[in-house]
Amino acid sequence: MKCTRCRAPAQVRLPRIKAGFCPDCFKLYVERQIKRAVKQFDLIGPEDRLLVAVSGGKDSLALWDLLVKLGVRADGLYIDLGITGYSATSREKAQNFADQRGLSLRVVDLPARGEAVPGLAPFGSRSFCSTCGIVKRHYFNRAAAEGGYSALATGHNLDDEAGRLLGNLLRWQDGYLAKQAPSLPAEAPGLMRRIKPLIRLDEYEMAAYCFLSGIDYIIEECPHARGATSLKYKQVLNHIESLMPGTKWNFYAEFQSRRRRFTPGPGVGPDEAGTGAWRQCSSCGQPSWLEVCSFCRLKQKAALGTPSQATPSPAS
Ligand code: AMP
Ligand code: FES
Ligand code: ZN
Repeated sequence: MKCTRCRAPAQVRLPRIKAGFCPDCFKLYVERQIKRAVKQFDLIGPEDRLLVAVSGGKDSLALWDLLVKLGVRADGLYIDLGITGYSATSREKAQNFADQRGLSLRVVDLPARGEAVPGLAPFGSRSFCSTCGIVKRHYFNRAAAEGGYSALATGHNLDDEAGRLLGNLLRWQDGYLAKQAPSLPAEAPGLMRRIKPLIRLDEYEMAAYCFLSGIDYIIEECPHARGATSLKYKQVLNHIESLMPGTKWNFYAEFQSRRRRFTPGPGVGPDEAGTGAWRQCSSCGQPSWLEVCSFCRLKQKAALGTPSQATPSPAS
């Protein structure tokens, strides 16, 4: 197959857009998809200064690389979750990436703060991953707010978001559907805008981009992700995509044009409880829907030392 753009031998085949690209043209394609996403969903403006949450994985490192290439001011944030056999390697990948390019990486060292996720998880009311999510969201927002950034960017790609969409639709989670967008506004004082610039690119494309750009990332998944429901939704969508290329993006994009039909309701917010208005957590000062935010409640339970009975986690 020849490159759709320059007719050189193609190395990356993309059935979903009926194209194939040589390495240089593929990288150009990826950059253009980011620019298109930025324009389509109004993600980044000239005044923005972003904090990119980098996990050490392919998506977030590629995102940071691409944003910097496109001239966006972007620092990195790595949260060391303290997960044995995973966090040390992913931290090294994120740190090496930053050092090699002279970029600034902020690191939140949870074990050093006595907040490693494996230590807190038994005190969460849901699964290990849900507790991890509470901790990550807390520090995403806090680090971006304290650092004076205008928004927080994450490396969620099309597969992540289409999989989550399928899960939310299968359970008709209206509240979550209303809030599933590539850009979530800062709807309360101290709450950061969150953006997902990789929304037009899928997992395979991000892996190919890293490979062709020499980005060294952690290949292993978090050990707690194995068997996660979110992976099953992705598998199902991949099967449909292999039968009907292009379906995944159409599914997601068509949903975006209908998203406002869904209304946020009870159970949607950083605390995933209550319908109340935003306020400040009385303990940490971060935006919260309850008197005390879910992160501080978790820490309080851990301090008291009474583990919760974990129940299966409804996906978000
Ligand atoms: P995940 O929820 O693990 O699929 O990750 C989704 C996105 O969250 C990644 O693309 C990153 O942008 C961000 N992220 C996940 N884990 C971390 C971490 N330990 N530190 C900083 N950002 C993270
Ligand atoms: Fe949080 Fe795996 S990264 S549980
Ligand atoms: Zn709090």
